[in-house]
Amino acid sequence: MESQAAPAPDFFLGSIPVYGRLILAPMDGLSDPTFRWITRKLGSAYSVSEFINTLDYTVMRHFQENRLLFREQERPFGFQLLDNDPCRMANAAVRLMEEFKADFFDINIGCCTQRVTSRGAGAGLMRTPELVKQIFIEVGKAVNVPVTAKLRLGIDNGCLNYREIAEIAVENGARVITLHGRTSKMGYSGRARWEPIAELKKALPVPVIGNGDVASVGDARRMFDQTGCDAVMIGRYAKQNPWIFGWKDRDEVTPNEVYALIRYQYAEMARTYPRGSAIKAFRKYLKAYLEPYQLTRLELSELLRCEDEVTLLGLINHTFSALGVDVARQHLWG
Ligand SMILES: Cc1cc2nc3c(=O)[nH]c(=O)nc-3n(C[C@H](O)[C@H](O)[C@H](O)COP(=O)(O)O)c2cc1C
Repeated sequence: MESQAAPAPDFFLGSIPVYGRLILAPMDGLSDPTFRWITRKLGSAYSVSEFINTLDYTVMRHFQENRLLFREQERPFGFQLLDNDPCRMANAAVRLMEEFKADFFDINIGCCTQRVTSRGAGAGLMRTPELVKQIFIEVGKAVNVPVTAKLRLGIDNGCLNYREIAEIAVENGARVITLHGRTSKMGYSGRARWEPIAELKKALPVPVIGNGDVASVGDARRMFDQTGCDAVMIGRYAKQNPWIFGWKDRDEVTPNEVYALIRYQYAEMARTYPRGSAIKAFRKYLKAYLEPYQLTRLELSELLRCEDEVTLLGLINHTFSALGVDVARQHLWG
């Protein structure tokens, strides 16, 4: 019998082969370990943590330990570092590496929150190219795994320096560049511009990942066609449709699949979140999963205000029974 040839990687993150061309974007408060794992099982090609603010991490005040957790099966897994101090970032990378042995580190040059940019971190780094250079030098020296960058177009339309920042990052060791096609000033408003993604893909010697406003399989295909990027990163729309990582639009997903995923996700969050906090954290996903079903305002508010697990699971069963799901049958997800 002929042996099957191993699949070829779609691209390399440094020396790490990457299989797959759709990737879950890091999202504070959303890309938690459970959601990342779900998207990985559905096809996301690798995992990046929510940002780790290395200032908080270093002083360990108010630091949320569950931001650091990941499953072995999630690899390739990278921590995303957010700060404006190259030495502090390098020291944090060493500690994280010792404890967790991440596969790579990603530098956040895109966070647009005022509190972050005003201290020159996140997208605020785009004002200080020299600091970007130092960060890549220091973090690159500190760890022996690849370092990547995720950036925006610039601070605002008057400062669109994505090309300069991306080139500095690559010259100083960045092995992959992800570009979100908005400025910091835009936040999440307006439309993401994709031409700069095409420009970086032509100009840079490393893989380029496009990001911004991909809401469907058709959008992902258009981004690949229009930019030639190596992979597409999907953020907000993944919350409604994690199946997109298996190249499936939301209207192709059955209520049975949604029900099984909801039960799995809640059970995992209840197991891993601090006692009593899972329901609140779970609501934002539940709301997004239920959106296509046009529940009444009353039905939705009962589901989304419920504070008690038994009642919540009963309401979910009731909702999906009405959608034709045999909830008494055991639904195992994955
Ligand atoms: C709630 C939320 C949290 C985010 N947190 C992060 C983060 O921790 N690190 C990061 O690089 N980008 C973060 N982003 C930006 C996303 O990774 C992504 O670049 C952006 O949402 C655009 O992609 P989209 O149009 O597919 O959502 C966040 C976005 C949202 C909506």
